[in-house]
Amino acid sequence: MPYQARAALVRENNAPVVVETITVADPRRDELTIELQACGVCHSDLSVVTGTLPLPPPVVLGHEGVGKVVAIGEGVTDFAVGDTVLSSFVSMCGTCRWCSIGRPELCNLAAKSVTTLPDGTVRTFDAEGKPLSIFSGCGVMAEVATLHVSNVVKIDATGVAPECCALVSCGVMTGFGAAVNTAKVEPGSVCVVFGAGGVGLNAIQGCATSGASMIVAVDPNDAKLTLAKAFGATHVYAPAPGEDAAKALRKLTGGGADYAFECVGLGSVLAQAYGCLRKAGTAVMVGVARPDDQVSVRCGTLLFEEKTLTGSLYGGARPRVDFPRILGLYKAGKLKLDELVTQRYTIEEAPKAFDDLAAGRNARGVIMFPNRA
Ligand code: APR
Ligand code: ZN
Repeated sequence: MPYQARAALVRENNAPVVVETITVADPRRDELTIELQACGVCHSDLSVVTGTLPLPPPVVLGHEGVGKVVAIGEGVTDFAVGDTVLSSFVSMCGTCRWCSIGRPELCNLAAKSVTTLPDGTVRTFDAEGKPLSIFSGCGVMAEVATLHVSNVVKIDATGVAPECCALVSCGVMTGFGAAVNTAKVEPGSVCVVFGAGGVGLNAIQGCATSGASMIVAVDPNDAKLTLAKAFGATHVYAPAPGEDAAKALRKLTGGGADYAFECVGLGSVLAQAYGCLRKAGTAVMVGVARPDDQVSVRCGTLLFEEKTLTGSLYGGARPRVDFPRILGLYKAGKLKLDELVTQRYTIEEAPKAFDDLAAGRNARGVIMFPNRA
């Protein structure tokens, strides 16, 4: 039986998100249907609204969700009704070159599921029966979603609130993974994190977990800098208009950073991240910039200073390994999740959740779904 579900959609770029009742079809082969418990409101969802991530509307938002499996399609053996699962916004086929070398975040299948399920079709329809795209193979900002098994990870959520579980599937994975998986920050390192939002706060946590001796949080929003300290930043810096941020940060760090993380989504900020490095330092692009955004570097800084400029997609996630690993750190008291959740919303309040995100009012806002049973 198809499901009727309230869902948050982009109908028009740069207009408020709309909440509609959609129809979610039953799972086909290798798919499953979940009832959502919680879904984080990530800046990447906002980037679909603004067109920074150019996905043609209408799109069902949401890629940071947790839910319970309510139906499984033919051939599904690794999941059962009642399992708690997180969405993964990259599809993991398990057999392509990238999955085979342990880099499923680069899976070839993911490119086929940017606005649909991996087979190029959707299970989501509006009131007139017209198909609705889904964000990154997920579309989990909805009471119900049907996903392909390659976009789903089973977790043990015992002792972890749904809103905390949800954040693991994007913001925590992306930020923490950028520090731990991609940069592989060593004990004693000097780190600078640009942007102390849902992703950047987790990059800070990742640097702290790795034993960084100095972690500078950079954000124009004072409230975010206060949060950053609670997540492990040893120093904070609010960029002043007209000031050379890279120079100021090289001074503050006593000669430059070993690692700098761009968690905003701007080429101009990536230039600052690269510019604040010391010799042999690494700048990591974590944020999602507009497709035409660019950065330029002087070639000599790559050669004579042996700097590295790299990217971290989804924190270099191996979701089936890293989601349980992150939850394990939380359960052991070594990683903060509760403090990330600064506001809870109903699905009807999704437009307000996006306003609050755009205005910088939250570490993370989360949409909560009451039990439908
Ligand atoms: N320098 C430093 N920080 C900045 C700047 C800047 N020039 N401009 C904005 N910021 C800060 C904001 O004040 C905010 O605290 O960046 C932070 C972004 O946080 P969120 O809006 O919570 O975004 P988040 O979900 O963390 O995503 C950050 O990662 O996954 C991507 O698409 C996502 O590009 C986005 C980035
Ligand atoms: Zn996200």
